[in-house]
Amino acid sequence: METKEDILILAIESSCDETAASVVKNGREVLSNIIASQIELHTLYGGVVPEIASRKHIEKVNQVIEQALKEADVTLGAITAIAVTYGPGLVGALLVGVSAAKAVSFATGKPLVGVHHIEGHISANFIENRALEPPFACLVVSGGHTHLVIVKDYGEYEILGRTRDDAAGEAFDKVARAIGLGYPGGPKIDRLAQEGNADAISFPRAKVDGSDYDFSFSGLKSAVLNYLNTCEMKGVEVNRADVAASFQKAVIDVLVEHSLNAVKQYGFDKFAIAGGVASNSSLRAAFESACEKQNISFYHPSPIFCTDNAAMIGVAGYYEYIRGTRSGYDLNAVPNLRLGER
Ligand code: KG4
Ligand code: ZN
Repeated sequence: METKEDILILAIESSCDETAASVVKNGREVLSNIIASQIELHTLYGGVVPEIASRKHIEKVNQVIEQALKEADVTLGAITAIAVTYGPGLVGALLVGVSAAKAVSFATGKPLVGVHHIEGHISANFIENRALEPPFACLVVSGGHTHLVIVKDYGEYEILGRTRDDAAGEAFDKVARAIGLGYPGGPKIDRLAQEGNADAISFPRAKVDGSDYDFSFSGLKSAVLNYLNTCEMKGVEVNRADVAASFQKAVIDVLVEHSLNAVKQYGFDKFAIAGGVASNSSLRAAFESACEKQNISFYHPSPIFCTDNAAMIGVAGYYEYIRGTRSGYDLNAVPNLRLGER
């Protein structure tokens, strides 16, 4: 039962191909988590088509908001504030969520809180790990981002490293397409890799000159494409499961090595992962065992809170709200918003 002192955040997320709304109580309790996925629609085109995404968000946004309130058994009047993702992401897609959030805020007189999408992904860790508090190190691996971040405090971040080219999820999606698995590639590679030999093909583990913590995945992607071309030219049959497993291992090795170096270097005893790729089963197992060996507590959200959802935006929105963050009705969608910027 909710009391008057409870802080209830209605959160909206529409940065890519999921229209989502959620009600979160006191920052960590998810009362509802509604996700209308467009994946099937975009699968037809082999990737997200921005115009189609925006149009679908418009169709769905009111429905998911209503459903989130209904499932949480909360009225709009009982909501404390409205949180919404305003970047980064697809501009047209973001605008739908931002406009809906502004409309609800204006109609109810409740405050509006703009949330950074990556801050949302990181905050997903707070949902099921009630004891987790900053500071800790976090690796964010999604379709658009690969960031190694220090979470200094709620809402305070320092980026140690990022990808110089493709994001980890992007590499999964591109390699999946190359071996004929279709979109979205991550979960399909994850599944197929379980039948393959991760040591069958030696793919490169890229280092970035001048940075211990930055990442680069475009060389690995090219190496996979070259391998496939060479096989084709020689008339050798490709073992797709071996390609998936060997590629996946190359990505994971680099992610684990860089992350644990950072954790050691900065003396953290807590490490978390976040973002769509964080739902990868081999990646989770690799971090689990590496952290255990070094006595580091390892945190990860359940898969449903790894991929895009509004509950994570509600959690981040709560911490921003209690820090005093408020957005005006001039809040705009910012496709290239940087973490820590307002
Ligand atoms: O966080 P997310 O839902 O959206 C962005 O903010 O980008 O991440 C989507 C990405 C996609 O590239 C998808 O292929 C990848 O996460 N992904 C996975 C898995 N599930 C989703 N990658 C590897 N293994 C998975 N199980
Ligand atoms: Zn995301």
